[in-house]
Amino acid sequence: MAITLKSPRQIELLRESGRLVRATFEVLREHIRPGVSTAELDAIAEEFIRKHGAEPVYKGYVPPSRRGWSNTPPFPGTICASVNDVICHGIPSKKERLREGDIIGIDIGLRLNGWIGDACETFPVGEVSPATRRLLDTARQCLEVGIEQAYAGNTLRAIGAAIQRHAEAAGFSVVREYTGHGLGRNLHEEPTVLHYDEPRNTRKIMAGMVFTIEPMINAGRPDTKLDRDGWTVRTADGSLSAQFEHTLAITDDGPILLTA
Ligand code: MF3
Ligand code: CO
Repeated sequence: MAITLKSPRQIELLRESGRLVRATFEVLREHIRPGVSTAELDAIAEEFIRKHGAEPVYKGYVPPSRRGWSNTPPFPGTICASVNDVICHGIPSKKERLREGDIIGIDIGLRLNGWIGDACETFPVGEVSPATRRLLDTARQCLEVGIEQAYAGNTLRAIGAAIQRHAEAAGFSVVREYTGHGLGRNLHEEPTVLHYDEPRNTRKIMAGMVFTIEPMINAGRPDTKLDRDGWTVRTADGSLSAQFEHTLAITDDGPILLTA
C-alpha cells in the first residue's frame, strides 16, 4: 500500500487525537506509584479516553500478520503496560503491582473523530537507581535525535541511524523487531520507521507524512523473546528496556509533534 499524505486539515484532526493522548498521560502520571496495579492504570486510562468521546485502539487489536489463522488473542488492554524487562506490549494485570525502583512504559493509542493518536512514555516508580535513570534519559534522547532528522527531503534511514548511534554510544542497544509506523485513520500505515541504520532504507521523508518514532532501548543485548501470552515482549537477557514514542506530522517547516 502506498503512503497517504495528510492535508493540513487532517493534520489538525490528528493533533486533537494527539492532545487527548497527552492529556491521558497527565492523568496517569498522578497514579504511578508503588502499590498501584497495571490493571488499575488501564481502567483509569480507558475511562478518561471514553469520557472524551474517543475509543482505545489497542483493545481487541490483532496484528494483520496474525489475523484469521493464528491463535494470538486480541490485545485485552487500553494501554500497554511494560514493566522493567518488558520491552513493549505488556498486558495490564490486577496481579502486577508497581514497586519502588521499577520502570513502567505506558503506550496509549486512541481514535478520536476517526483519527489515531499514539504515544509511549517510560516512567520511574518512586526513586530509581542512577543506572536506570541513565537508561531513561538515553531512551528519551534517542527519540529526540530521531525527531531532529524528521524533515522533508531527508531519508527515513537518517532517523534510524541517529537513534542507533546515540543508543550505542551510551552502551545500550536498539530493538530491531518492532518499529515505528505511519498512521492516520488506521493505527498502522506506511511507512515503516526503523530505529537502526539500514542502508537500503533510502525512502525520502515528505511533507504530509504522519508517523511515529518509538525506539525501544535495552540496557543489555537487543534480542527479544515473546511470552506464552502471545503479546508480552521481553529482553532475552532480562535487562531493563525503555521506550518513548511521539506521533509527528511532517510539514515544509519541519515536524509537528502531535503528541507533545
Ligand atoms: N505503539 C505500538 C504500536 O502501534 C503499540 C501497539 S499495541 C497493540 O506500534 F496492541 F496494538 F499491538
Ligand atoms: Co506506535
